[in-house]
Formats: sequence, structure tokens, C-alpha cells
Amino acid sequence: MRFDVVTLFPELIAPHLAMGVTRRAFAPGGAIDVRVWPLRDFALDGYRRVDDRPYGGGPGMVMLAEPLLRALDAAQAGRGDAPAPVIHFTPAGRRIDQALVQSLSRGAGAVLLCGRYEGVDQRILDRRVTMELSLGDFVLSGGELPALALLDAVARLQPGVLPDASRDEESFADGLLEAPCWTRPETLRIDGVDDPVPAVLLSGDHARIARWRRERSLELTARRRPDLIAAARAAGRLSADDERFIALAGL
Ligand SMILES: C[S@@+](CC[C@H](N)C(=O)[O-])C[C@H]1O[C@@H](n2cnc3c(N)ncnc32)[C@H](O)[C@@H]1O
Repeated sequence: MRFDVVTLFPELIAPHLAMGVTRRAFAPGGAIDVRVWPLRDFALDGYRRVDDRPYGGGPGMVMLAEPLLRALDAAQAGRGDAPAPVIHFTPAGRRIDQALVQSLSRGAGAVLLCGRYEGVDQRILDRRVTMELSLGDFVLSGGELPALALLDAVARLQPGVLPDASRDEESFADGLLEAPCWTRPETLRIDGVDDPVPAVLLSGDHARIARWRRERSLELTARRRPDLIAAARAAGRLSADDERFIALAGL
């Protein structure tokens, strides 16, 4: 799988690829090959200019079409195969979610276009961009963080990056939020009181622990994200035991 990142700030990308569990996916010979295309290298003039004022007036600058076109086409040519989808990050895009990450994690990769300034000349979006994605309803200074977020989430799903069990139990893997977790000490002295770990987690009864965790997961999801419970129900992902628990707990 290969991702090509077109960016004005190439130095932001590399450090994130070398850290944490996901570095295994990005290391040489790993599942994901990331190539970075510094946009200034594709500027047309000696000043390496990549932005200009917006037609019609208004604040800020707009990313010039021509350097972007050259960078995107160079990235596609470097892939050698059928043109890859081009993803542009923008607040106007579809919100990134785990279903999208899962589908990208099974594909051949994409070209990631990171915007800056007020945005990208619309003609590039019309003619070169396949998909627009947003990290959420807030405004960032550039598309690099969304691109890195997407790469990180895709890398987590590559074989050998996480143990299968932790990947399968994570939030959204089965449509629900993951249950809370505890570690040592068994009893934490905090604010003058003893706060013990839930006893069931010390029982050694794996089936009981699994059921208890499932119920905590259902509880948390129902309280925070009832939309996810409805979606899991519609997809037939709630068992009879789950439904019984939801009814009994009044969730
Ligand atoms: C300062 S923002 C431009 C915001 C734009 N003028 C608007 O109001 O929608 C610069 C760049 O950051 C990226 N960006 C900002 N917020 C984002 C978000 N929530 N999701 C994805 N990309 C974002 C986009 O690539 C955008 O072109």
C-alpha cells in the first residue's frame, strides 16, 4: 500500500511515521510506503511561490493550481499503476470514521492533498480530487494533521502492527466504544479514599470478565453515543444477551 502526501510542510510528516506502534507499518519493508511531495518543489517561479490572492477579493491566500497540478501528477506518475484516489482534507469533507479507515486499510493507498491558507483553487478540487475528508467540525491550519491521523488509523489495522485481540476489541471495531480499563495498583489511595479495581477483573473467570466488559461497553456507548447502539442493532451486531442487558439496565 502506498500513500503520497502533497504538502507545504514535508518536515511535519516524517517524525510521526517513526514513532509508536505504527512505525512498524511505515518502516522499510513495512505494509505502508509513504512518499512525501514538497509542494514548493513544484512552484513555477524562482520565488517558489505556491499561493496568491483570491479572485473577487477577501482575506488570506489561496493555493495556486499549477504547482498542485504538477505535484499531484508527479505523485501519480511515480505510482506507475492505475491512478490512485486523491483525498483532499477540508472542513467541508465527509467526517473520517472507522468504517472509512477500514476500507482504506484494505486498498492500494491514495494521494493525500494537504491544504493550507484559505484553501485550494477550486479547479484542482473539481478535476483531480476523488474524495474530501474532514477531521471534525473545527478549523485547523492545514491538512497535515488530518493526513497523519488517517495514516495512523490505517497503519493500526495492518497485520503485525497490533496484536489481533487489541485491534479487534478497540472502539468502533464492532461498532461500539471500548469498555474502560484499569491497571495496578489493585487499590489506589486517592483524595483520602481507597479506590479499588472492579472485583470481577481479579476473578480470573475469563468468560465472566468478557461479559462484564461487553456490558460496560454497551453502557458507555448507550450513554455517550446512542447513535452507535442504533447502528449496531440495525446491523444485527447486538446479541440476545446484549438486548437483555440494555433493557434491564434501562439504557
Ligand atoms: C485554515 S484552513 C482553511 C479553512 C477554510 N478557509 C474554511 O473556512 O473552510 C487550511 C487548510 O487546513 C485544512 N483543514 C482545516 N480544518 C480541517 C478539518 N477540520 N479537516 C480537514 N482538513 C482541515 C484544509 O486542508 C484547509 O484547506
